[in-house]
Amino acid sequence: MTTHTAAPTSALDRYETASRDEIAAMQTERLAWSLRHSYDNVPAFRAKCEAKGVHPDDFKELRDLALFPFTVKDDLRQNYPFGMFAVPMEDIVRVHASSGTTGRPTVVGYTQHDIDVWAEVVARSIRAAGGSRGDRVHIAYGYGLFTGGLGAHYGAERLGCTVIPMSGGQTEKQVQLIMDFKPTIIMVTPSYMLNIAEEMVRQGINPRETSLRVGIFGAEPWTGAMRGEIEKTFNIHAVDIYGLSEVMGPGVASECVETKDGPVIWEDHFYPEIIDPDTGEVLPDGSYGELVFTTLTKQGMPVIRYRTRDLTRLLPPTARSMRRIDKITGRSDDMLIIRGVNVFPTQIEELICKDPALAPHYELVVSRDGHLDSLAVRVEVNPETHPSEWDRHSKMLQHSIKSRVGISTSVEVVEQGGVARSIGKAKRVRDLRPKA
Ligand code: DLL
Repeated sequence: MTTHTAAPTSALDRYETASRDEIAAMQTERLAWSLRHSYDNVPAFRAKCEAKGVHPDDFKELRDLALFPFTVKDDLRQNYPFGMFAVPMEDIVRVHASSGTTGRPTVVGYTQHDIDVWAEVVARSIRAAGGSRGDRVHIAYGYGLFTGGLGAHYGAERLGCTVIPMSGGQTEKQVQLIMDFKPTIIMVTPSYMLNIAEEMVRQGINPRETSLRVGIFGAEPWTGAMRGEIEKTFNIHAVDIYGLSEVMGPGVASECVETKDGPVIWEDHFYPEIIDPDTGEVLPDGSYGELVFTTLTKQGMPVIRYRTRDLTRLLPPTARSMRRIDKITGRSDDMLIIRGVNVFPTQIEELICKDPALAPHYELVVSRDGHLDSLAVRVEVNPETHPSEWDRHSKMLQHSIKSRVGISTSVEVVEQGGVARSIGKAKRVRDLRPKA
C-alpha cells in the first residue's frame, strides 16, 4: 500500500480548519436561517412546532435546537411525494428516492444550490481520502433514484477527477474497466467490493496488483475488521463515507485517509446531535445513541432534527476542525433481539473477519422456535480452507459469538458462493419469523 497523501492545509475549505468558536458562530447563524426557512415554507414542520409551542424566534443559541420537534421518515411518507419541499417545484432541479422496505418511497428534492453544496461536500470527501485532480474515479454505486452514484459523480467531477460512471452490477465488466481504464480510486459499497475481488480472482487477476490506490466505501454498516480485509485483499487504503438521502446523500461525513478514525461530519452544512433513542433526550458528545441531523444550508428539502436511526457516537475533531462519528454500529431497525440480547450484524462480522479460515460473506437467519427467537449464522469458508477444518472453524465462531456477544447461535460454514451476493447494499439478515 502506498503511504497516505493528506491534502495540504492550503487546499482545504475554510471551515475544515476554522476554530470551534468560528464553527459554532456559523452554525448558530445558519441554524436560525434553516429553522425559519422550514417554518415559513413547510406546513408539516410548522404544524409540529405549533403543537409543541415553539417558534423559530425561540432559537438563540445552539442548545435551543433541542426545543424543536424531530423529523422522522414517516413525516416524509405522510407528505409523499413533494410535501416536505420548501421551495416552489420549479426551483427543484432533481429528485431522488429510496425504495424502503414497505410502501411509499421517501422522496427528496434539491435546488441547483443544493446540488452545488452536495458536489462540494463530496469533492471534499474525496480529497480527504487522498484524491485530487488527475485521479480517475470508478463509481460502482448505483446510478438512478439512489443517491450513491450521482452524488459521488458530481463530487468527483467537482474535484477535477476523471469519472468512470460504471454504476452497480455487471461484475465482469467492472473488472474489465478497472483493468483497462486504470482508475486510482473506487467508490462502491464494501460488500460489493468483495464481489469484485472474487471476480478478479476468477479471471486470474491479482486484486493487489491493479491501479487502485484508495477505496471510498459506504452506504451500509461495515466494521474496522472489514476495512482490514479489504485493504489486505486490494492493497489499497479503505476509507468510510457516510450519508443518507433525507439529509443529502453520500458525503454528509467522510473519513480522512491520514487518520482513518471515523468520518468527519461536514459540520458547515449538517448539524449533528446524539439522542437517547427511547427518550429523545440530547446526550453529551462521546455517548452512544441515535444520530440526528439538521441541515444548515439546504433549500429544497431542509430537515430539522432528522432521526437517522443510525447508532453511533460523536468524537472530537482530529485531522479537521469538525467532529467525527464513530463507525455506525447499525440501524436501530436492524437490531436483533435474540432471547433478550441485543445483537447487530456488525458484531458478528467483527468475529468472522478475525478468523482467516472464514470469508467475509455471511448472513444471519432469524427464526422462531416455539416462543423463542433463534439465530443461525451462515458464513463462507475461504477457498483454501480444507473441508476437514470446516467443523472446527464453525465451532470456534460459535464459541466466540457466545463469549463476546453473549448469545447461543448455530453456525453453518458453507462453501464459496453459498451466501447470496448483492450488487449494492448487502442484506445481512433473513428473518423467517412469522409476521405479527
Ligand atoms: O446510502 C447514501 C450513501 C451512498 C452513503 C453512498 C455513502 C455512500 P440511503 O440509501 O438513504 O443513502 O441510506 C442511508 O445507509 O442511514 C445508514 O443506515 C446507511 N449508511 C450509509 N453510509 C454508511 C456508512 C445512502 N458509511 C443509510 N456506514 C444510513 C454505515 C451507512 N452505514
